[in-house]
Amino acid sequence: MLGRKFFMNKEFLEFILRRKTVRRYSEKTIERETLELLCRAALAAPSARNQQMREFVVITEREMLDALHAVLPNAPMLKNAPAAIVVCGELDNEWSVYWQQDCSASVENLLLAAEALDLGACWCGLYPREERAAEVAGMLGVPATHMPMALIALGYPLDNTERVKDKWKPEKIHWGKF
Ligand SMILES: Cc1cc2nc3c(=O)[nH]c(=O)nc-3n(C[C@H](O)[C@H](O)[C@H](O)COP(=O)(O)O)c2cc1C
Repeated sequence: MLGRKFFMNKEFLEFILRRKTVRRYSEKTIERETLELLCRAALAAPSARNQQMREFVVITEREMLDALHAVLPNAPMLKNAPAAIVVCGELDNEWSVYWQQDCSASVENLLLAAEALDLGACWCGLYPREERAAEVAGMLGVPATHMPMALIALGYPLDNTERVKDKWKPEKIHWGKF
């Protein structure tokens, strides 16, 4: 389905366990084909009643990335990111009550796909910071029926200095009862 170029021959669990946030990117641009593949992964995520209350804005124009960098104090990595994807929830559907979950599942799929494609990615929160979401919506022309929930900064890792954090905490797991 994806063609030989994107054939993933490593254990999928490895991608889950080695995924980490990457905030430093090289100057290498990301091919449109690769960005489409990330979107395909995002769209493949589960959603409530398969209603898929999410849409994506793919940004590669330097001018727009710089403009977003200027208004988002939580996304300094955009200064060097060659691309970003803004995940927007759909608010005006009967199944929109689950839009945040639909979007979050998509974001995680996108982050895992980025890891598998040797890309670095960082989830930058927008909603529920209303002012950030409103600013981004205005800049990207997102209609009032949709809410920008997260911006995913993307790029090829600059120096691979980011490390996987150890999150294995057995005390967070309750067997049988909390
Ligand atoms: C809901 C959410 C919002 C986040 N917002 C930001 C953000 O605005 N800026 C940022 O640099 N990282 C942001 N992050 C990334 C987290 O800081 C990162 O996932 C966390 O430190 C764990 O590191 P890891 O992803 O390498 O495991 C966000 C992550 C989540 C899940």
